[in-house]
This record gives sequence, C-alpha cells and structure tokens, in this order.
Amino acid sequence: MSIQTKIDTIIKSVGSINIQDFVEISNFDKESGFYNKPNIEKIGKDGQFITSPEISSLFSIALANQFLKEFPKAKNVNLLELGPGNGMLTLDIYHYLKSKNINVNKITLLERSDYFKGKIFGRSDVKVKFIENIYEYEIDSEDIVFIYSNEFFDTFGTKQFIFNNGNFNEIKISKGNNKYFLIQDSVAISGELIDRYSKYKFKNNDILEHSNLILNILHDIQNLNCKNYFFTTTDYGYTKLPLKSTLRLLSSHKKLNLFDKFENVDYSFGINFELLRDLFISKNPKIINQKDLIFNNLPNEYLKSSDKNIRKIIELISGEKFNDMGQVFLNLSFKNDETISKI
Ligand SMILES: C[S@@+](CC[C@H](N)C(=O)[O-])C[C@H]1O[C@@H](n2cnc3c(N)ncnc32)[C@H](O)[C@@H]1O
Repeated sequence: MSIQTKIDTIIKSVGSINIQDFVEISNFDKESGFYNKPNIEKIGKDGQFITSPEISSLFSIALANQFLKEFPKAKNVNLLELGPGNGMLTLDIYHYLKSKNINVNKITLLERSDYFKGKIFGRSDVKVKFIENIYEYEIDSEDIVFIYSNEFFDTFGTKQFIFNNGNFNEIKISKGNNKYFLIQDSVAISGELIDRYSKYKFKNNDILEHSNLILNILHDIQNLNCKNYFFTTTDYGYTKLPLKSTLRLLSSHKKLNLFDKFENVDYSFGINFELLRDLFISKNPKIINQKDLIFNNLPNEYLKSSDKNIRKIIELISGEKFNDMGQVFLNLSFKNDETISKI
C-alpha cells in the first residue's frame, strides 16, 4: 500500500494526522516508508539527497581526530554509530583508526532501516552488530566507546504546535474535496509546553517544534553505562528556536512543498541543539559549526593542500553550501570519563 493511501486511511478514520506521525510513517513505514522501501537509492549522488560522509572520507577523518584529541592514548576502541545509512562514516573511521594502530574491537550500528542493514551487511568486510535501541548496546569491556552520528536526529518525527492567544494548538493534516490542508487542534499539553519553553516570548502564529521521540533516545544515551566514551553528533539545526517550521522535503536533490509528492521523499527537521546542550549540561558539551569541526580537526596535509579536488571537498563539507533558512550544520560533542560521575 502506498504512503498516500496509508495517510488517507488514517485521515478518513480519525479526521486528521499530526505532523510527527505523518513524518514517521512517510520515513519509516516498514513496507513503503522512504528509509525501508527496497530498490530506490536513498543517499548519495544517485539518491534523493547527499550527506557529508558520502561526499568524502575527509569528514570521517575530522570526526576521528576530534575523538583522538579527547582520548589521545586510545588503544582499544569500540565504535557505536547512530543511523549509519550506507555505512560510509563507520567504514572510514574504522580504516583511519586502524591506520593509527588503534584496535577497533567492536562495531555496533543503531539502525532501524532494513534497507540500510541489508546494504551494509552485504558490503562490509568488517563484522558489525545491529541494534534498534540504545539500551540494547552491550558494554562488555574496558574499551573506550566512540559514539557518533551524522544527520541522524533530523529524520525523527517531530510535532508542530502553533501559538495563538496564549495557547498552543497542534498542527495536523486533514483532507477534503480531494485536497490536503493543515488544521489546528487544541491540546491538553499546551501548558506543559509553555512551561518547558518559558524563556521564549511567543507571539501569535509562532511555530514550536517538539519531538518526544528525540527526547526518548537522548534519555537512553544519558543512561548509557559506559565509563569512558566520547559522543559527537552533527546535524542541521539551531541553538535558538526559529519559531517557524523547519520541515524540509527532499526528492531527487530538490526541495518540495508539503503535499507535492508522497513517495520517495525524505522528510527532515532542524535539530534543537539548545535542548541537546541542556540535557548533557553536566558533561560540558561543546557546540561548534561544521566549518569549525572540519578546520579544527582535519590534518594539515589536507587543510593546506593545493590539490584542487581536496580544496573543493573541504569547501563542500565545511557546510556552507548546505546552509539554509538561517540554519547551519552544528556539532555537539562531549567526553565522559570515569572520573566524571554518571549524568
Ligand atoms: C539522513 S540518514 C543519515 C545517514 C548517514 N548518517 C549519513 O550521514 O549519510 C538518517 C539515518 O538514521 C537512521 N535512523 C533514523 N531514525 C532512527 C531510529 N530511531 N533508530 C535507528 N535508526 C534511525 C535512518 O534509517 C538513516 O540510516
């Protein structure tokens, strides 16, 4: 059954569907969701959009060096990637660490797309274990764990609320006379949202995006029981609420408007890095933009290279080309070691 038919069935039975559920079904429906559907290239030149690890392994080298700066004496490492997609980032980090004579003893990938699991499994010459929840991650040694993600959180379904006359209403999708339209539904959690985001002065028609799905996974990361780990995550996002919709639809490398098309579309949101920082505040997280991530961590042999191709790649992966709607690619990282108590 197509995504559009699934959405229409829900609207027909309950009158509407909220944005979070709409995006979750469109992206992750087991049968026809964008990330599960077989036989369509998803990420890369022949896919619907491109990401930094797909452009070049220089992005992975920068991330690996960001880790090595925090754990310069690392000898035995476990890798844990959240949302690997085609798996390029982990493969490149693995080879880079090996080239530095570091033992990579275990590779775990948190991935819920059967399409990507099959793709990585079929291609990888390195043994990997797949998990679908962070709490399934097995901590079984004294190895340092390197946890990383790129464009992972932006695929999570997120609710959208609109502020009007002192309250938040939820934005939902409905359909009539064969046309889709947005409606506003009053919600019981309006007061909770006003409290949670109390430092913001909302004006009529401001939009608030909030994802309990992201909060759940961040809580699982907080509860990880590893002694020594480094966490680094890069995504398209903001440190102050933009108060407007950040929902983006991409298909064949082009931006679409909501309802232009329902199949083979990637839906993503900007990520609230302020929320991420607040959740991990006891770890002193650092937020930098992707440009600084690259320039602070890529070895000079690349940064100072006069090779035209390398210069072009650095320009691309330092993020500026991807920036949009006042948002940039941001990176949040922190280190946990046994001397610091559990969050
Ligand atoms: C935009 S892709 C990015 C892939 C890759 N990191 C890259 O940069 O090319 C998002 C990835 O996160 C995975 N993903 C999203 N939400 C997930 C979840 N809740 N659990 C596991 N994997 C998830 C998707 O299946 C996909 O592999």
